[in-house]
Amino acid sequence: MMGEGISGETKEGFYIRLSRPGVYVPSAKDPRNVITNYDLEKIVDTSDEWVTSRTGMKERRISHDKGVKEMGLLAAKDLLNKELIDSEQIDEIIFSTNRHSNEHEFPNHASYVARELEAREGIPCQDQAAGCTGLIYAIRTAYNTLRAEKDKDKILVIGSERLTDMTDYSDRSTCVLFGDGAGAFLVERFPGDVKKGIIKTFVGGAPDKGNSEWPNGFLSLEHKLGKKIKPSEDPDKKFDLYEKKQNYLVMNGKEVFKFATVAMKEAIHKVLEGTGYEVKDLDAIIPHGANIRITDAAKKGLEQKGFKGVVYTNLERYGNTSTASIAIAHDEAIEKEIIKKGSLYIIVGFGAGLTDGAILVRH
Ligand code: ACO
Repeated sequence: MMGEGISGETKEGFYIRLSRPGVYVPSAKDPRNVITNYDLEKIVDTSDEWVTSRTGMKERRISHDKGVKEMGLLAAKDLLNKELIDSEQIDEIIFSTNRHSNEHEFPNHASYVARELEAREGIPCQDQAAGCTGLIYAIRTAYNTLRAEKDKDKILVIGSERLTDMTDYSDRSTCVLFGDGAGAFLVERFPGDVKKGIIKTFVGGAPDKGNSEWPNGFLSLEHKLGKKIKPSEDPDKKFDLYEKKQNYLVMNGKEVFKFATVAMKEAIHKVLEGTGYEVKDLDAIIPHGANIRITDAAKKGLEQKGFKGVVYTNLERYGNTSTASIAIAHDEAIEKEIIKKGSLYIIVGFGAGLTDGAILVRH
C-alpha cells in the first residue's frame, strides 16, 4: 500500500510551503534532563563503546514533567514566534504522536493545543499516528488538505514524543535508543506560480506481521512489569529506578533495522519519481534519527547514484525522538545553513507499523 501526492512546482496558481520548524526539547541546563551512555552503563549491562558503535548515539533528553501534548504545545509556540504568526490565522491542527496509555488521550492532543493557543472557533483538530513516520504522514495530510480545500491556508502540524515514558529501563536492547522532544511546522498555501515549497509527498507501509516469536509484530507495545527512571533526590545520583506495570515498547531490532535500511532508500527514490529530479540534484536529506548505521548505509547507496549533498542528523545528541526527530534535525540544518533559500531537500522517515514516507521540498 502506498500513497503519493504531487504538485508543488505548480501550474495551479499556488504553492505549498513547508515552514522552518519550531522545536521543544527538555533543557540540557538541568543535567537530569540528559541521559548519557555513561548514565545507561549504571542502569543496564551496556557500554558507551557498544551504544556509540552500534547506534551513533551519545545522549538523549528525558522529559520528567511534561507530557506529549505539553511539549507539542511548546514547539508550536516556538514556531508561531519564529514565523510571526498569530494563532487565529491557523486553519487546522494535526498532532502526530505514538499512542500509549500513560497520558490522557481523549479527546485528542490537537484539540488541547487549539485550546491553549486560543485558536479560532470552528478549527478542525485531529491526531494522527504512524510510528516514527507520523510527522511525514501528517505533513502529507496537511498538503493534500490544502490542495483540496481552498478555504484553508495554514495548517499547524506537530510531532511530539515522550518515548522514555514507554521505555523499559531493564531492557538494554531498547532503553539506549529513545529520547523526548517535539517539533512543529506550518504547511501553508501561497498564491502564485512560484517554484518552491512541497514538490511531492510519498507514504508507504509494510504491515508488521512479526513471526511466531513476535506474534504482535517486530515493533509493538507489551503490557508487563518493567523499570522506569525518575530524577534522584540523592545529590550524588542522577536517576532512581522504580518498577511499574504498564505498556512498554518492545522491538526486534534486527528485523526493524532490515526494514528501515531498505525503506529509507526506497522512500527517497519513490518521492523523486516523476518529478524530473534525481538524487544528484539534492542538496540535503534529513532522515528520521534511529541509528547512524541506517543513515550511513542509505547515504552510501545514494552516493553511488550521484548524491553529493549532506545527510543531516543529530541523533548523537537526542537519540530516537520518533515523530519529533526530523523537525529537531531540520531546525539545526537551517541554523547551520545546510538548508537555505533555494535548497532542494528530502525529509524521510520510517518506523512502527511498519511505515515509511518522504517529502521533497524546495526551501
Ligand atoms: N549493550 C550491549 N549489548 C547489547 C545491547 C546494549 N545496549 N543491546 C543488545 N546487545 C547485545 C545483544 O544482546 C546481542 O548479544 P548476543 O549476540 O550475545 O545475543 C548483541 O548485542 C547484538 O544484538 P542485536 O540486537 O543483534 O544488535 P544490533 O546490531 O542489531 O543493534 C539495534 C541493535 C541498535 C536496536 C539495531 O538493531 C537497530 O537500530 N534497529 C533499528 C531500530 C529502528 O530503526 N527503529 C526505528 C523505529 S522506532 C519507532 O518507530 C518508535
